[in-house]
Amino acid sequence: MFITFEGIEGCGKTTQVNRLKEYFESLGKEVLVTLEPGGSRLGKTLRKILLSMESQDLTREAELFLYLADRAQHVDQIIRPALEQGQVVISDRYADSTVVYQGYGRGLDPQILHSFNEIATRGIWPDLTILLDLPVEIGLKRAVTRNLQTKQTDEGRFEAESIDFHNRVREGYLTWAALNKNRFIIVDATGSVDEIFEQIKNKLSDSTF
Ligand code: TMP
Repeated sequence: MFITFEGIEGCGKTTQVNRLKEYFESLGKEVLVTLEPGGSRLGKTLRKILLSMESQDLTREAELFLYLADRAQHVDQIIRPALEQGQVVISDRYADSTVVYQGYGRGLDPQILHSFNEIATRGIWPDLTILLDLPVEIGLKRAVTRNLQTKQTDEGRFEAESIDFHNRVREGYLTWAALNKNRFIIVDATGSVDEIFEQIKNKLSDSTF
């Protein structure tokens, strides 16, 4: 079983990923939690490059291919082996982030990016994608506070993008989710951690998945 979390900066993905992991473990399942970018050895180096403020000169095409390289390595070395062993795999971001950020956000063609994702993932798609949706202003405020608290001040390249960019990303997620209704569930991420997790659990039990 393969589940991915998606959403704008500061939507609370990482907290909910860990809650869902604990929930599955309480049901006796073996769970692997991973993330993009940065889930593999190569990915850790790529993450530093991709999120650093020093990379503000990256072209959108170079950025795209670095994310795809991260994904190809991640799928091959981490995700596929865990799925083959029957584990539940939960990834904090995956292929939809490329369609939405590099496509709807940066202006590349979402359908072409989808084809690139087919190559990078070798056709491994999530059974379920949980989109945590919330207004950009709330998300960015949370993201900046978190980066300061965790001293991840070297990971601010996307937070530094314009409000317009983040609004395109939020809208892009909603559009892409509507085009992929078979595997997306949309959760209102404005509430407390507990409220959001309750919604996720309810939607999980409602979904045919
Ligand atoms: P995060 O791990 O804190 O969510 O940050 C990852 C950042 O990278 C986030 O701003 C979204 C961006 N991103 C893309 O632009 N394209 C991608 O394919 C992925 C996986 C992430």
